[in-house]
Amino acid sequence: MRRLVIAGNWKMNKTPSETKAFLEALKPVVAGKDNCDIVCCVPATNLAIAVETAKGSNIKIGAQNVHFAKSGAYTGETSADMLVDLGVEYVIIGHSERRQYFAETDETVNARVKAALEAGLKVILCVGELEKERDQGITAEILGKQTKVDLLDVTAEQMKNVIIAYEPVWAIGTGKTATNEQADEACGVVRAVVAELYGKRVADETIVQYGGSMNAKNCADLLKCENVDGGLIGGASLKTEDFGIIVDAAQ
Ligand code: 13P
Repeated sequence: MRRLVIAGNWKMNKTPSETKAFLEALKPVVAGKDNCDIVCCVPATNLAIAVETAKGSNIKIGAQNVHFAKSGAYTGETSADMLVDLGVEYVIIGHSERRQYFAETDETVNARVKAALEAGLKVILCVGELEKERDQGITAEILGKQTKVDLLDVTAEQMKNVIIAYEPVWAIGTGKTATNEQADEACGVVRAVVAELYGKRVADETIVQYGGSMNAKNCADLLKCENVDGGLIGGASLKTEDFGIIVDAAQ
């Protein structure tokens, strides 16, 4: 049995003081809900206060990106060692918004994944097809290419610290959720690619989340899908009540 992981991707939302207030409010809502891992991936400026506020609770803190170099002349960037030193445990890598607006490629995503794993972070690697790619019937090829290139030179041992989030780009922030069948099938495709790369045992143990307009209403059915091991949630992770309902569904 794979453990479900419910992760919120706050994107560029909430100030540090709002982060503290939100996490203080979330703690009692999710207290004792230990049948899944709960992660809040907050903006870089809010990581320190988030780690501090979540201490002693079952909420883990993640970043939304990490640079691939150990240190150096990369103005505005954050290294994996900086995140680890802060007490951050997770990092989202390769989100479609990073690929779309910040010119990230599978090659830079792969470099970030390796840097994060070497520093001891748990990675939430995002893959997903565009609407035109789904319409063209090449979803499986796109997911295969992304998964393979993004995980190049990642070892089977390191895969214990890799979660893959299947996020169809057309479902992100659109209110247009993948159907349960589409989500299950695509997460299954990702798992099959992991099996091709690392064998069945690793594939059976790898957590594959669904992300894209998951909310308090549709989460229960999505989380029932055999290949869906949790969610990466944007909009609905910004409200304690909605996020709490999703955590409940994962119990
Ligand atoms: P929404 O849940 O707002 O569609 O965002 C999904 C997402 O991009 C999570 O990373």
